[in-house]
Amino acid sequence: MKIGNVIINGKVALAPMAGVADRAFREICKEYGACYTVSEMVSSKGISYHNEKTATLMEISKEEHPCAIQIFGNDPETMALAGKSALQFHPDIIDINMGCPAPKISGNGNGCALMKTPKLCGEIVRAVAKAVDIPVTVKIRKGYNNKYLTALEVAKYCEENGAKAITIHGRTAEQMYKPVVDWEIIATLKQNLTIPVIGNGDITDPLSAEAMLKQTHCDMLMVGRGSLGNPFIFREINAYLSDGKIIPKATNTEKLSVMTEHIRKICDYKGERIGMKEARKHITYYLKGFYGAAAFRDEAGKLCTYGEFLLLIDKIRYFLKN
Ligand SMILES: Cc1cc2nc3c(=O)[nH]c(=O)nc-3n(C[C@H](O)[C@H](O)[C@H](O)COP(=O)(O)O)c2cc1C
Repeated sequence: MKIGNVIINGKVALAPMAGVADRAFREICKEYGACYTVSEMVSSKGISYHNEKTATLMEISKEEHPCAIQIFGNDPETMALAGKSALQFHPDIIDINMGCPAPKISGNGNGCALMKTPKLCGEIVRAVAKAVDIPVTVKIRKGYNNKYLTALEVAKYCEENGAKAITIHGRTAEQMYKPVVDWEIIATLKQNLTIPVIGNGDITDPLSAEAMLKQTHCDMLMVGRGSLGNPFIFREINAYLSDGKIIPKATNTEKLSVMTEHIRKICDYKGERIGMKEARKHITYYLKGFYGAAAFRDEAGKLCTYGEFLLLIDKIRYFLKN
């Protein structure tokens, strides 16, 4: 499929996830078959203040393309400047966050709070699309809450103002991550828009992926939490969608070796001190379901160096063998 002039080969993308889907994780997911990746959300104000940490969030690897940088904010002019500034990192697409429910984002009128003002959503898209020469896309939810079920209206304004695709997570901001995802709203968007619609929410395996595609007719899927400690999900879904095959799950040996590669990449990109702090949560995700995992998870929570991490891996391998 195409988003604007960007060709995407595949049906399953990695969702943006602040604090987890960084460059290291995105590279791993790409290796396992994610057809498209999106950066962690980046503050448009942070970009305009030339914040160094913000710049790190926008770094992209050569292997990642096609990929998007996602920006958030509520002022069309600042968002346009941020979009333009992001181009120095060579994304293929600029994605606009209109779905984040976190109070520290939406409380300031950003993220999903924008869905209360559909016209402003259109103005932001128009400003960003005018400022950049690559496609602009938008990620929304079903609405802000039951009073503002504005997904279709927002999506229409975005399309009219130049958005080249819409990703929709079928829950409101108030619902956060709890009730079941409303697939009806994804289908409604697909029926009413001419641009591609990307369905998102609770895809955890090949069967749920196929079901969402079939029932909503959306053009592509985005997987978030289902990929945590489980980049193999892209391989599994791709195999099922292309050949109808349920392939075997990753073995513990493969999990350990991918986890090691992942943590090494985090340390390479962020330095060992920050890298190992961030690695701890990924290690606990990978260890989910391992026999004896609770004790190893406790140890993972205290790791400070990559050397300590390698010792833990040796210990887990030994434990699994005996
Ligand atoms: C830890 C975490 C961080 C997230 N950060 C972002 C973000 O930066 N931008 C965004 O648009 N959505 C963000 N999301 C939402 C996901 O992209 C996705 O819409 C949501 O998790 C539902 O999909 P899932 O059920 O496959 O996880 C985040 C979700 C999680 C769990």
